[in-house]
Amino acid sequence: GPQGAMALVLGYLFGSIPFGIILTRLSGGPDLRSIGSGNIGATNVLRTGNKKLAALTLVGDMLKGTAAVVLAGYLLGGRNAALVAGLGAFVGHLFPVWLSFKGGKGVATYLGILIGLKWPIAVTFAAIWLSIAYLSRYSSLSALVATLLTPLLFWFWVRDPQAAALMAILTVLLWFMHRENIARLLAGSEGKIGQKG
Ligand code: G3P
Repeated sequence: GPQGAMALVLGYLFGSIPFGIILTRLSGGPDLRSIGSGNIGATNVLRTGNKKLAALTLVGDMLKGTAAVVLAGYLLGGRNAALVAGLGAFVGHLFPVWLSFKGGKGVATYLGILIGLKWPIAVTFAAIWLSIAYLSRYSSLSALVATLLTPLLFWFWVRDPQAAALMAILTVLLWFMHRENIARLLAGSEGKIGQKG
C-alpha cells in the first residue's frame, strides 16, 4: 500500500546519499572513481591515505541505513515498513540517482540496516567481518563471507523468516556488485586493506 511505497522512497532517499563522494570532495581529496577500485565506499577512501575520512564514510554509509529502517518503523507502521525501507536504502546506495545510478557495493549500508533490524546480528556480522579481515586482509572477502552467513543467522538463530528473506536479497545484490572483486580474489590479484591500488 501507500505506506510501503513511502517506506521505499524514504529508504531510497537516505541510502542514495554518497558519503564517500561528499566527504572526499569537501576535504579536497581526489575523485574516488579515478583511484584504487573506483568504488565510492570506505575501503576505497582508505586508499587515499586518509583514515579519518574512511572511518567517517563508514559511519555515514552505515547510519543512513540504520536511520531509514528505524524512522520507517516508527513513522510508517512497524516491522514491514522497516524491512521495505531497508530494501530502499540498499538500492539507493547501490544505484543513486545523483550519481547516474553508479553507487557503491553496499557493505556499510548492509551493516547499518542490520543495526536497525536486529543489533545482536549486526554485532555478529561485525565480528565475522573483522575476523576474516584480520586473517586475510581482504575487505571484499570479509564482506562476502559475512553477508553469506547473515540470512542464515536470521533464519536459524532469531527465527525471523521475513528478515532472512530481505537479507538474502541484499546478499545477492551485494555479491553481484562484488563480481569484479570475486574475479580478482580468484585470480589472486585483489588489493589488500589499506594497499594503494
Ligand atoms: O565495501 C566494498 C569492499 O567490500 C570492497 O571495496 O574498493 O576494494 O572494491 P573495493
